[in-house]
Amino acid sequence: MKTLLTEDQLRDGVQRLAKEIVEFYEGRPLTIVGILTGSVVVLADLIRELNMPLRVGVVQARSYHGATTERGELIINADLMPDIKDRDVLLVDDIFDTGHTLVEVVAKMRELQPRSVRSLVLFRKEGRQQVQHEPDFVGFRIPDEFVVGYGLDYEDAYRHLRYLASLEEAEITNHLLEGESGGR
Ligand code: IMP
Ligand code: MG
Repeated sequence: MKTLLTEDQLRDGVQRLAKEIVEFYEGRPLTIVGILTGSVVVLADLIRELNMPLRVGVVQARSYHGATTERGELIINADLMPDIKDRDVLLVDDIFDTGHTLVEVVAKMRELQPRSVRSLVLFRKEGRQQVQHEPDFVGFRIPDEFVVGYGLDYEDAYRHLRYLASLEEAEITNHLLEGESGGR
């Protein structure tokens, strides 16, 4: 694994984002909604940097890969959401890749009639987007590599790493082979 961003760099980035948010909302109450599961680490670090009236919620988005669909259908579960009607909402996700997740969750939020919906992503993978939408706040622009750590997973592993690392193709293959032989 190759470290792309260290713990210190991530902390600085989160603090910079927090400053931008506080300045942007100018003391108005905000509802932050993290998209599960990848956003849990940045969510926990970010909210503790926000000195402003704040409510916190989560929404679950996961893709269901059917046999016929190339791109998995996205299932959004908003049951865990606080009431956002007439509120300023900031969606938080770990990474902006094709962009489909964020676009669909933003659309889902709009159905609940908030006052405003904006979005924040900690990482934006360069050159991968398939949508017009751009997140309002971006932490880091990163190259088109598969990354893990600081909330991001490969098959639900590595989320707890304090840094961001890129996972080489060989490592992914090895991991799959280990899984097949029942290792660990
Ligand atoms: P999008 O809908 O293509 O923008 O994908 C967003 C979701 O895909 C993220 O919330 C992540 O869960 C996952 N994802 C995209 N790229 C990576 C990566 O490099 N590592 C781990 N997860 C990723
Ligand atoms: Mg994920």
